[in-house]
Amino acid sequence: ERTQVAIIGAGPAGLLLGRMLELAGVDAVILEHRTRAYVEGRIRAGMLEDRTARLLDELGLADRMNREAAVHHAFEMRFDRQRYRIPMAELTGGCTAVMYSQQEIVRDAIEARVASGLPLEFDVDDVRLDGVDTDTPTVRYRAADGTEHVLACDFIAGCDGFHGVSRTSIPAGVLTSYEHDYPFAWLGVLADVPPSTFELIYACHERGFALHSMRSSEVSRFYLQVPPDEDLAAWPEDRIWSELRTRLGTDDGWTLAEGTVTKKSITAMRSFVVEPMQYGRLFLAGDAAHIVPPTAAKGLNLAAADVRLLADALCTWYESGDDAALDRYSGDALRGVWRAQQFSRSMTSLLHHDPSSPMEWRLQHAELKHVCTSESAMKNFCENYVGYPPVGRI
Ligand code: FAD
Ligand code: DHB
Repeated sequence: ERTQVAIIGAGPAGLLLGRMLELAGVDAVILEHRTRAYVEGRIRAGMLEDRTARLLDELGLADRMNREAAVHHAFEMRFDRQRYRIPMAELTGGCTAVMYSQQEIVRDAIEARVASGLPLEFDVDDVRLDGVDTDTPTVRYRAADGTEHVLACDFIAGCDGFHGVSRTSIPAGVLTSYEHDYPFAWLGVLADVPPSTFELIYACHERGFALHSMRSSEVSRFYLQVPPDEDLAAWPEDRIWSELRTRLGTDDGWTLAEGTVTKKSITAMRSFVVEPMQYGRLFLAGDAAHIVPPTAAKGLNLAAADVRLLADALCTWYESGDDAALDRYSGDALRGVWRAQQFSRSMTSLLHHDPSSPMEWRLQHAELKHVCTSESAMKNFCENYVGYPPVGRI
């Protein structure tokens, strides 16, 4: 068995890369460890930067998004029971945010690939990468029906997330990793209730951060800062609603509509980067190479940015045999990654409460007031929040 590019993982990174290669006429096989139902049901991010939404459009994957997704021009910040509207589009020459959830992108991309009749295997096991430092790498795996396969290829794209095999297949000593853990986690809640707001609300409260987001006119999404080792059982519905009311509360009579909680989960927060994002013929993209704390909603957008660079570099190689673009991939991707890491960390520190640091809490308030009242500070914040200039212009 042979293909040009073996893609490990059918998350956003692997699926979007597969689509870009398809449109460029490069063969690829996508291998996914989980079942189709599992990856389509996995609830994660929900906010797309303009450039990510435009990429989906270019790839012909945006029909449903353009019909169903809300486009946001502003968001709200709350602290000290006051609210501040931040007009991000006005401050960034028109950059908006598109609310369309990750598992819908995954569903649309899988549907398109299946419709094209291209190889995408779910439920594969025991994926092993060999000869990555040669010109003839191979991927061994066990298919869903139990048969063993050896797939020869020119390149391997490691799009298998933080817990995947790609990064860990690289010999010790090749990669340098950078890591920071935060003293909090997020409780993510999905509820059957119309959002109590048209725009996202980021709230900084003494009891911890809260975010009011949405998935549709009927479904709301919330996040609450909780301790890192928190037990999900400690959060019955009543406690969730009471905590959201407290943290999001304002003095101007705003009220929170409550409904039925349909899903809840806890996510640890960390910053993580490996350098370089390449070893021989293996290229890492998305969460396989980096994790951001979720506050600024950059994870999914970074995964899309990585695979755009990688697809361009691979296509250049197939067109001309020139590997200069492939050699540049890691450096180009990492510039955007570190920019997003820096902003994700600063937005996380700005909005969460670490009770062990009273001095920090005072400083956060000083900065929050500055960001919400000074036009230049607000503009700077928004430029980071809406995304970054395309790599090359950084
Ligand atoms: P993934 O989506 O992780 O995809 C990797 C794929 O590889 C998966 O389908 C996995 O099953 C598969 N895989 C793993 N190992 C193997 C293997 N050995 N062989 C084959 N396949 C394999 N970002 C935000 O911006 N906002 C949020 O609110 C947010 N919430 C999140 C909540 C959670 C619980 C998590 C885990 C992440 C969240 N993120 C959020 C981050 C965002 O979802 C990720 O950045 C995004 O999923 C990255 O896409 P990816 O394709 O690189 O990785
Ligand atoms: C969502 C998540 C985020 O981290 C964010 O900043 C905005 C929205 C969401 O899942 O809707």
